[in-house]
Amino acid sequence: MCGIVGYSGSRPAAPVLVNGLKRLEYRGYDSSGIAVEEGAQLKSICRTGRISELERSLPDFHLTGSCGIGHTRWATHGAPSEANAHPHLSCEGDIAIVHNGIIENHAELRSVLEKRGHRFTSQTDSEVIVHLIEDAYARLAFQTSEDDDMEDALGKREERTPASEVKAGEPSLLLQALSMATSMLIGSWAICAISSHEPGIIACARKESPLVIGHGADGEHVASDVTALQGVVPQVCVLGDGQFADVASHSFAVFSSVEERLISAKGEMMRLDWNAEVAERGRFADFMLKEIYEQPRVIRDTLEGRLNHGAITISELSLTHEELNLVDRVVIIACGTSYHAALVAKNLIEGWSRIPCEVEVASEFRYRDPIITPSTLVVAVSQSGETADTLAAIRDARIKGAKVFGITNVIGSPVARESDGVIYTKANKEIAVASTKSFTGQLVSLTLLALLLGQAKGRLKQAQVRMLFNELANTAEQAEAILKEASAIDEAAVSFKDSRSALFIGRGMGAAVAEEGALKLKEVSYLHAEAYPAGEMKHGPIALIEPGFPVIAVATQSPTYDKVLSNIQEAKTRGAMVVAVATEGDEGIGQFADHVIFIPRVRDAFSPITAIIPLQLLARKIALLRGCNIDQPRNLAKSVTVE
Ligand code: F6R
Repeated sequence: MCGIVGYSGSRPAAPVLVNGLKRLEYRGYDSSGIAVEEGAQLKSICRTGRISELERSLPDFHLTGSCGIGHTRWATHGAPSEANAHPHLSCEGDIAIVHNGIIENHAELRSVLEKRGHRFTSQTDSEVIVHLIEDAYARLAFQTSEDDDMEDALGKREERTPASEVKAGEPSLLLQALSMATSMLIGSWAICAISSHEPGIIACARKESPLVIGHGADGEHVASDVTALQGVVPQVCVLGDGQFADVASHSFAVFSSVEERLISAKGEMMRLDWNAEVAERGRFADFMLKEIYEQPRVIRDTLEGRLNHGAITISELSLTHEELNLVDRVVIIACGTSYHAALVAKNLIEGWSRIPCEVEVASEFRYRDPIITPSTLVVAVSQSGETADTLAAIRDARIKGAKVFGITNVIGSPVARESDGVIYTKANKEIAVASTKSFTGQLVSLTLLALLLGQAKGRLKQAQVRMLFNELANTAEQAEAILKEASAIDEAAVSFKDSRSALFIGRGMGAAVAEEGALKLKEVSYLHAEAYPAGEMKHGPIALIEPGFPVIAVATQSPTYDKVLSNIQEAKTRGAMVVAVATEGDEGIGQFADHVIFIPRVRDAFSPITAIIPLQLLARKIALLRGCNIDQPRNLAKSVTVE
């Protein structure tokens, strides 16, 4: 949520910053802005709407400065407006900051700062940061004291001593001021600051929200996400939690705060393996479609190397066979689409290993003092690896003594770093805001985990594991077959694009698929959709059904197929327009459904991997027909870094 970039080098900064922001736009896209050092001044431009709005205004400003910062926003505090867009400037306009995260004590700080004479121009929580830095900077550079009010402090600027030059191993004054400011903050942050008094320096601080620095041939780059720097720099330094950095035009230095002093520290380097194709739509109309078509590849890549001599191997789990055998409960924590993948996994884990498994949304888990013991295996599922609630839940579980296993798509992400072991879903960068290929990667990874637990508990014999693994691997080909034939999906989409609401139903595995199908439809088409276990329909939702009301039923072959068929008939009798996802060869279903989307026969355990594909395509097609922005739906952001 929100994206940050910074650049200090030999090129004009503004286009570099805007290019970086474009790559981060999926993190938030209600407004954006940049601030650039121009001679002895800072110039800033903020625009509401997409980054393209900001880009369009650039030529009017003739910015040539080679150091600056930028931000793309997803509003939390304060409506999307130019005033609330970052960068925020100090009262004197000599310091600018961009911030990603939440400042929880912003209201108290604001009232103290206002009493000291600071003038606020936005409603954001972030603006307090720049005023705190302004105060601290005045104390460091201009010898004002905390008792001076703002006017006194500004008066003393006339007789200021020049800010010291940045020396190797010594933090800039701006960084010291930033460190003093952060000591007053409660919350989470990635912050970049520039000051007209120390040209070429970007002061950075990080707590919880990620920040990386990359050394390029043309200068130093800073970003909240490696996506902005892929193909730009070969490797990045991942700023550690609580670390600070001074970034200058051709070098950077990392610091840790020790007893309120900044001491030189080492940052952790990470190579960026860049595949330019990931950022290109290629022959596809949008990234969502491209990513849906990547799913067969994701299945194959996620499974690669996982079956060895008839046994599932997940060495990253870092638990011995004996330790695995001691696991007496599994708790899976996740949000959104990742939560739906977890609902599928519950069935598999309990079915194959008989270990009780609970699934909980991370935002509930973290606030209810859940029962977690050292023999509980906690599994955290997160595509981005930086969802604030999931991270908080991981920390809570570890404090309670549990081993935490992360399943994520992003190498080096906070979930990967804070878990005891991690499995990567091999989906590659997912650019469309609505998750598709990551869901598949999560389903496959969780299925591997369920097989591993079944194997460790001695409930699955080697031959069974091998057979199940091979069937799981076959879903890649089955997914390809579904992607080749999409005409029934398009017809169904046309027939309910003008509806106001839709009901998704299914049982067992199908219930979880229905949940994910409904979420996809809501996200990209803004059509209200609700998912219900099919058997629950008559306990309330059936009242919604009137002639033409869309009911989407997951009716693949499963132990509860007949029951789902009865539920479809109940809906049909009341006039529903039924779209069924069914198994090839099911000749009977056509008499109860208006549209049938056939998918290849797969074992019920693996059916979510294939059954979700038509629902992803259906949601996208409906969104397209309704003229929605497929890759960047309104109000959403790809990484949810606030709670
Ligand atoms: C839906 C979607 C969201 C995410 C949720 C969790 O398409 O993308 O519901 O699944 O915000 O995000 P991660 O998996 O990054 O923790």
